[in-house]
Amino acid sequence: MKIAIGSDHGGFKMKEEILSYLKEKNIEYYDFGTYAEESCDYPVFAKKVANAVASGEYEKGILFCGTGIGMSIAANKVKGVRSASVTNEYCAEFTRRHNDLNVLCLGGRTVGIEIAKRIVDIFIETPFDGGRHSTRVEMYETNE
Ligand code: RB5
Repeated sequence: MKIAIGSDHGGFKMKEEILSYLKEKNIEYYDFGTYAEESCDYPVFAKKVANAVASGEYEKGILFCGTGIGMSIAANKVKGVRSASVTNEYCAEFTRRHNDLNVLCLGGRTVGIEIAKRIVDIFIETPFDGGRHSTRVEMYETNE
């Protein structure tokens, strides 16, 4: 499992903490930035991570901003990306099982770090249920 990571200034601190957490767990990642706390434009980092996942180079991505919401809106514009801002463990489980989430978004200003770690674990470990959910997930890619 190789994870693409990105944040803006609002998610920077949480990104750094989650990078240490992933390192402890020997999970491979690449940090696409931002690399400092200065104000920056979150869609830039959302697109970098979303494209890295959509291309197949990375299996999953994790994005951090203030709320996780701007990142998820921007990431979802890239075809093949399924992204959501997740704030609790139940949603973390079901966005994997039912929605096959491939880019997790977390809010550095809205979610505590210990909950964020649990959400990351669940995002990484929970498989997609497939079956009827595959048909529905395929429907995300059409305009009808
Ligand atoms: C930056 O202040 C903030 O707008 C951003 O981190 C994010 O929360 C956007 O959705």
